[in-house]
Amino acid sequence: MDLPRLGLGTMGIDDPAAIETAIDLGYRHLDTAQIYDNEAVVGEGIERSPIDREELTVATKLWVDRLGADAVSESVEASLERLGLDRVELLYVHRPRGEYDPEGTLPALAEVREDGLVGGVAVSNFEVSQLERFRDVLGRSPAANQVEYHPLFQPEDRLEHAREHGYPLVAYSPLSGGRVGDVEAVVAVAEKHDVSPEQASLAWLLAKGIYPIPKASSRAHLEANRAALDIALDAEDVARIDGVEREEELYPE
Ligand SMILES: NC(=O)c1ccc[n+]([C@@H]2O[C@H](COP(=O)([O-])OP(=O)(O)OC[C@H]3O[C@@H](n4cnc5c(N)ncnc54)[C@H](OP(=O)(O)O)[C@@H]3O)[C@@H](O)[C@H]2O)c1
Repeated sequence: MDLPRLGLGTMGIDDPAAIETAIDLGYRHLDTAQIYDNEAVVGEGIERSPIDREELTVATKLWVDRLGADAVSESVEASLERLGLDRVELLYVHRPRGEYDPEGTLPALAEVREDGLVGGVAVSNFEVSQLERFRDVLGRSPAANQVEYHPLFQPEDRLEHAREHGYPLVAYSPLSGGRVGDVEAVVAVAEKHDVSPEQASLAWLLAKGIYPIPKASSRAHLEANRAALDIALDAEDVARIDGVEREEELYPE
């Protein structure tokens, strides 16, 4: 799958106009989830946009109480119904807990993929041992692993696993939930390039080959985040943010 370098996180977005604006500004990867309760909002934004559906990568996530082998197919169909789409490009296991059972859930997801409802079976919040289990059960890597990754939380082992097996690591909360402005190293890199700390954080992730999905609701933020695609950090900048020692995990398991 050719995943766009920068996507849009939609958690908390409840206005289709924000989705429409994002697509208008060039966003081609939209990330939602059953638990965000906004699949219909995302679908409405897509519907309003003149951009061809084929140009978009739409991702949703099955919540932990809908991961039983018997529940998966119906649950995916319900998501598609809310989105108003006949397929999604990425379908995630949101978290490996609740009804998640690798031997039951994963073959059921593979079947939904074979039926054409889903482009790729992906995972979120998976540890390396759980990624290895996925590979054992399905005989291939997930289409993506989406994890919390930002200057204040850098799970290196997940990045290494993604690089080794050649699938994208998608970074959620890439702006530390809007807090990167108080991280000294990020501010220093931002000042050097005359950009905002949020843009510096995204440029750092992009330079590392990670796929960030910042959430933004205003046109100004949506635009500013897209502009991060044009910021080239050097190795010293990347190393400086890599070296941030303060750790704040926003979504501990
Ligand atoms: N898989 C999972 O378990 C999981 C968990 C959490 C999140 N996620 C995904 O990751 C996405 C992003 O994570 P997140 O929402 O936690 O946090 P985030 O993207 O790190 O930060 C979002 C916050 O930053 C603000 N912001 C955006 N662009 C900005 C800019 N250029 N300058 C200043 N502030 C800016 C936003 O404000 P405005 O809204 O006002 O623009 C919002 O308050 C979610 O929407 C969701 O799709 C996945």
